[in-house]
Amino acid sequence: MKTIGNQISLHNGVTMPQHGFGVYKITDPAEMETAIHKALGTGYRLFDTAQMYENEAMLGEVLHNSSLPRKELFITSKINNGNQGYDQTLFTFEESLADLQLSQLDLLLVHWPSEKHFFDTWRAFERLYEEKMVRGIGVCNYQIHHLEQLKTKANVMPMVNQIEIHPYLTQVSLREYLHKENIAVEAWSPIARGNVLNDEVIVDIAKQHQKTTAQVALRWHVQHGTIFIPKSKTPERIAENADIYNFELTTEDMAKIDGLNKDYRTGPDPDKVYPTI
Ligand SMILES: NC(=O)c1ccc[n+]([C@@H]2O[C@H](COP(=O)([O-])OP(=O)(O)OC[C@H]3O[C@@H](n4cnc5c(N)ncnc54)[C@H](OP(=O)(O)O)[C@@H]3O)[C@@H](O)[C@H]2O)c1
Repeated sequence: MKTIGNQISLHNGVTMPQHGFGVYKITDPAEMETAIHKALGTGYRLFDTAQMYENEAMLGEVLHNSSLPRKELFITSKINNGNQGYDQTLFTFEESLADLQLSQLDLLLVHWPSEKHFFDTWRAFERLYEEKMVRGIGVCNYQIHHLEQLKTKANVMPMVNQIEIHPYLTQVSLREYLHKENIAVEAWSPIARGNVLNDEVIVDIAKQHQKTTAQVALRWHVQHGTIFIPKSKTPERIAENADIYNFELTTEDMAKIDGLNKDYRTGPDPDKVYPTI
């Protein structure tokens, strides 16, 4: 069966697909079934959910009923903000695992940095990793200072930091730091929830390559070596977003897209969330 994209090696030796599928906001079982069947058939193998999305059970059911062997799938979930802390993380992780119908998760992420539970949550993550309940542990929305703080006490550093990245939020300094620290970069909202799709520069590049603007934006992630997880509930778009391995952006195209940064966030600023959790 065909699969899309490259594999990325994490610092613990585990490999994960670079090109995945996000399921945020898919909360209708029929919609989930249609989307996941289409995604599996198109070659997506990395699926990104979270306790916050309230769809782990729905995703678990569809994947469980699919004909794909478990080892071909890479499943990520995230501990919700209200579930942080040592005991709550361990307890709710078990619930997530049961909902997903799994005995081991591929990647568990802290959803947002929390000032109050900062080290306790991570201690629980290290325990789950040590006990091989998860093949990898990581964080989301961590800034450089959060990772420097984590370093002061962590036994195992995150394998992945999942952050908002798209042509309007290129995160150059954070990406450089993560590269230096050997933490894989994963982009959420890789097309800025559609906000970059009418950009004139991207429209122009898309015309030159006879591709759509979504395909150009996603190809930009491929060529940056970033893991990325576009979401769509629409079968045609699920296929469109995967059809990006038959063209290449030139160095000039890449530089033009890099130049679109305007520090525009579709989601909250992690530094504003941090003191509130
Ligand atoms: N860690 C975090 O804090 C965090 C935060 C946000 C998201 N995430 C993860 O990242 C994933 C992706 O981010 P996202 O869902 O926020 O944004 P996104 O993937 O950038 O954009 C999704 C939106 O774009 C539309 N779309 C998808 N492909 C398209 C195409 N080819 N042409 C036109 N429109 C298209 C989708 O519409 P339809 O569905 O209607 O087709 C949907 O409205 C999420 O699903 C989630 O797994 C993580």
